[in-house]
Amino acid sequence: MIKARPSIYDISPYIGGESGDQSNVIKLSSNEGPFGPPPKAIEAVKNAASDLHIYPDGGCTQLRAALAIKNNISADNIVCGAGSDEIIALLCQAYVGEGDEVLYSQHGFLMYAISTKAAGGTPVTAPEENLTASVDALLAAVTSKTKIVFIANPNNPTGSYLKRDEVKRLHAGLPDDILLVIDAAYTEYVDDVDYTDGHEWVEQSNNIIVTRTFSKIYGLGGLRLGWGHGPAHVIDVLNRVRGPFNVSSIAQIAGLAALSDDDFITRALSHNKICAAACTTKLEGMGFTVYPSAANFLLVECDAVDKADAICAALKSRNIFIRQMGGYGLPTCLRISIGTTEQMDIAISAINDYINA
Ligand SMILES: Cc1ncc(COP(=O)(O)O)c(C=O)c1O
Repeated sequence: MIKARPSIYDISPYIGGESGDQSNVIKLSSNEGPFGPPPKAIEAVKNAASDLHIYPDGGCTQLRAALAIKNNISADNIVCGAGSDEIIALLCQAYVGEGDEVLYSQHGFLMYAISTKAAGGTPVTAPEENLTASVDALLAAVTSKTKIVFIANPNNPTGSYLKRDEVKRLHAGLPDDILLVIDAAYTEYVDDVDYTDGHEWVEQSNNIIVTRTFSKIYGLGGLRLGWGHGPAHVIDVLNRVRGPFNVSSIAQIAGLAALSDDDFITRALSHNKICAAACTTKLEGMGFTVYPSAANFLLVECDAVDKADAICAALKSRNIFIRQMGGYGLPTCLRISIGTTEQMDIAISAINDYINA
């Protein structure tokens, strides 16, 4: 029987957030937006349905142009993908092979390990400090085999982030034949003048790539749309390895419309801030430690694996889906995405019921 490369069998397949099989569930397990897709994106998709027989624009020309204007960057330095997962996978496919190492922090996003192994490489983790990536630990873990360093900024599932100076220090400490990938999937939620998603450095650098997604604040996770911003030589490589039509026409049209739906984004951001703070206060009042999160989810410490498992199961029995974080090396923690105020009230009162049972 034919076999795949050995590292493929070492991959634990990614398990997405559970959502049950009924329609009346509360899904707080995948950090999706609470308000559905942006109304302008829904309208655009409806209008585009009759053109589904036409292949998409393989270069995502209009979408890249709009992203360039919105982020004050060059369209030539952008490549779009089927989610930022695809950009992560393409980077590993292109730059990593047998014997190469890919470095990221201890509780970093799971797709870094999966894409590294899929490419035949070896994932290496650096310890975190206070559930935050440590620049010193990352730099200490760099070897002559390191090809890519990933940092999710903010990180999923810790919600923590590195400030601008720290990311700058990380980049300054890396040789320029190592790629620094700044995964900015949650950048829109960050409210700190000392934070940067890194776009400002990309076009002057040889080795910084920023990845972004439409799955979080833009509420389009089901469409699979993401993008990368990188130096010309990296974009050239990604354009060589990606599929010719890797982003569907519907995804391009919806993404373009979502970018112009400012009311939706403003509402989602304001809700996230208020609701996350209110939920943190309630959970802390119930005795939990809630780690500070700059994104659209909370990481809740339960102090014991059994307790985390039991709370997850108790909520699941009521069709409320949250996520136990064993897969990220945090088995005593739960990650709860910020849903609507009503969903959060129901979820928190179910946790309260469990504690007081
Ligand atoms: C840190 C991080 N990066 C990337 C992704 C992937 O997002 P996408 O839906 O664009 O593939 C996620 C999704 O949860 C994430 O948390």
